[in-house]
Amino acid sequence: MRLGIISDIHSNAEALDSVLKDMSNIDEFICLGDIVGYGADPNYCVRKIRELKARCIAGNHDFGTVGKIDLNYFNDAAREAILWTSQQLEETDFKYLINLPEKLNILEDNDNLGAVHGSPRKPIWEYILDGITAHIIFSQYDFKIYFVGHSHIAGYFSCDKNTGRINYTFLNRGGNIAIEENKRYIINCGSVGQPRDGNPQASYGIYDLNRQRVIINRVPYPFSLTQKKIIKAGLPEVLAERLSLGR
Ligand SMILES: [Fe+2]
Repeated sequence: MRLGIISDIHSNAEALDSVLKDMSNIDEFICLGDIVGYGADPNYCVRKIRELKARCIAGNHDFGTVGKIDLNYFNDAAREAILWTSQQLEETDFKYLINLPEKLNILEDNDNLGAVHGSPRKPIWEYILDGITAHIIFSQYDFKIYFVGHSHIAGYFSCDKNTGRINYTFLNRGGNIAIEENKRYIINCGSVGQPRDGNPQASYGIYDLNRQRVIINRVPYPFSLTQKKIIKAGLPEVLAERLSLGR
């Protein structure tokens, strides 16, 4: 069984299409939230996720767009894009976003494999960016692998079951993670539509359960077209500029 892991699409149709074209033999798609926000194609991206029958959880931008989160928590450019997105969304897509769950168990019958946008303790907002936060999550929650998004930075924390030692590996050029018996993992497969790890290429993951391996891949996409759409829509220019930098 191969799971396709996609996160933080952020209304970027070109990045989403390029990623999906690059993914092969996927049995099930898991989407870790922030389908919308920042970019100019919210309806296209929500519809695509629904067509894929992806199992999807909510991100802060999804819930911001449908009024479930106070917009004062967002910076000016993000808030502007959220307000624009909320005016573009069609009713069925709005209903889809408002009903997204905050967490999911990838295997229905156990909580060994989890998926959440931010972190298990604060599903919508918490970033897992440092060893201290990762340590707290490994200590407080019982799981083998948690897939997270939100930071737009590809990489993973591993925790040795015997020593408790935590390691971080940065994967902004992609890479393979061999899942080991004596370790636990918090994995971020990066952002499809707005990478912030210094590599502007779109990022996604594949979890091969039979081989116990997670592959993170990067794919180029025509971001100059995405940038033109953002400018044409009247969205903040900074949201276009950052796509070519991967920041
Ligand atoms: Fe995001």
